[in-house]
Amino acid sequence: MTKDYSDKLPTNRIFSGVQPTGNLHLGNYLGAIRNWVRMQQDYECVFCVVDMHAITTWQDPSALRKSIREVTASFIASGIDVKKSALFNQSRNPNHAELAWVFNCVARMGWLNRMTQFKEKAGKNRENASTGLFSYPNLMAADILAYKATHVPVGEDQKQHLELTRDIANKFNNDWDVSNFFPEPEPVILGQAARVMSLRDGSKKMSKSDQSDYSRINLTDDRDAIALKLRKAKTDPEPLPTEMDGLEDRAEARNLVGIYAALQDMTSEQALAEVGGKSFKDFKEILTELAVEVLGPIGEEMQRLLNDEAYIDSVLKDGAERAQAITQPIIDD
Ligand code: TYM
Repeated sequence: MTKDYSDKLPTNRIFSGVQPTGNLHLGNYLGAIRNWVRMQQDYECVFCVVDMHAITTWQDPSALRKSIREVTASFIASGIDVKKSALFNQSRNPNHAELAWVFNCVARMGWLNRMTQFKEKAGKNRENASTGLFSYPNLMAADILAYKATHVPVGEDQKQHLELTRDIANKFNNDWDVSNFFPEPEPVILGQAARVMSLRDGSKKMSKSDQSDYSRINLTDDRDAIALKLRKAKTDPEPLPTEMDGLEDRAEARNLVGIYAALQDMTSEQALAEVGGKSFKDFKEILTELAVEVLGPIGEEMQRLLNDEAYIDSVLKDGAERAQAITQPIIDD
């Protein structure tokens, strides 16, 4: 008879993660981290620096170690409360890798072959990509399901991986004739900034791996860097429209208005009611001030935290213990 595990499912548990592969940028902040901070009150939260995902492409070990601390500092500086939420790096809880192997045996080649992120990252050189890069989504499913997380707040680019996570959860439950052992976690993709685009090309997402640092605003950028990047940001010769349909064929304008709206916590319609009709020169100055106002305190707090490596390391160690206390009984089951 099918064994039912419903009584062991949590009701409100969040898991989410960020790769420590360089500077965090405005897309990571507005698309993910800011939402985590807001959800902390209503959910039991586990936040993870996914260092094992990072090594699916080659990483310099000392740069990786530094980046793990920087990402941790940026979470805390953004408002993650480490007393309330567990914050740790993935490799410190071995249950992730353990469950990922089980999922390597559940997920199908055909499912992984459809993943657009693998196609983008492997590019033309597929044969030479690591097998870790190919099975990356199985580890991501393990991250989430090892906690039986019910909600996963992410940017839009992670939607396909979350669909795969749900497929894996279902197939696992079916294959072993259990009901509700793993939940089907809900993606939480919120608001204006679920997909922040590159400042250099409105058709590409803002990304840590873009060659040009002018394509993104980093959480550590100071006023001068933000002002310069926005001044150089690609735009068109027309002033900003006053209505939404005026943004339709203007990807760069749409992106900057979206960023303004997200930073002000309003919709793009409301943003256009404020800034519609302005020239890009004037709008970029307003946007610079706003970005500095929001990001400045985060960057400063990050720098302060990074002066105390022992504190950061103690947060990660404590977080890993709390994380494994949740996952070990699930793995044992
Ligand atoms: P990563 O490190 O690429 O990005 C971290 C988070 O930031 C979001 N994001 C964006 N949001 C809006 N606009 C953008 N331009 C933008 N760029 C990035 C991402 O959607 C993500 O929420 N595979 C994941 C990490 C991961 C994970 C997990 C996430 C591993 N295991 C389990 C959730 C649950 C990744 O590479 O994110």
